[in-house]
Amino acid sequence: MTPPQVLSRPLFLIGFMGCGKSSVGRFVARRLDAPFVDLDARIEERAGTSIAQLFATQGEDVFRKIETQVLQEALHQPAVIATGGGIVTRESNREVLKNASQSGGAVVVYLRAQPETLASRIRRQPGVRPLIDAQSTLSHAQTIVRVRELLAERTPWYQACADVVINSDGCALDEVARAVIEALHPHS
Ligand code: S3P
Repeated sequence: MTPPQVLSRPLFLIGFMGCGKSSVGRFVARRLDAPFVDLDARIEERAGTSIAQLFATQGEDVFRKIETQVLQEALHQPAVIATGGGIVTRESNREVLKNASQSGGAVVVYLRAQPETLASRIRRQPGVRPLIDAQSTLSHAQTIVRVRELLAERTPWYQACADVVINSDGCALDEVARAVIEALHPHS
């Protein structure tokens, strides 16, 4: 059991939808006795509506603008921060994450998983991810195809922003959490 430790800088969790950023983030935050921030939840608070509704009524651009704002605001918070899977699609967001990690102002951890794993998890929450299946009409196989398409574009961005890459396939939550905490103190 890892003893509680004080988090002195933001710990950003990045990765594709369904990789476990929020569940791992909550777990890690509890272990570290640190605050947990979910940027998607912040966006929903600010917009006063769900992400699915925001995409449907105002479009992805409006969503991405709010996402950039909440990322900037979280930059100096010593908290465990789960980002949305598309945060890396904006170059300015990638720069923010890279600069924060290179300057030592933050730690950025990429939670990686296979497309099949991601698709299964995404399908457990129908209607929540507008970029995958806004109408909840895709089969499992079609969902995997869509996940692969987006992953092909995004994987290099996740890798470029991350200090550490952690594989979450077939791993229990506490194993992934332990690896994330290790990333904070790699040589201890
Ligand atoms: C998105 C991921 C979602 C949410 C929005 C867009 C994306 O967050 O921000 O639906 O572009 O990958 P999660 O990764 O938490 O599902």
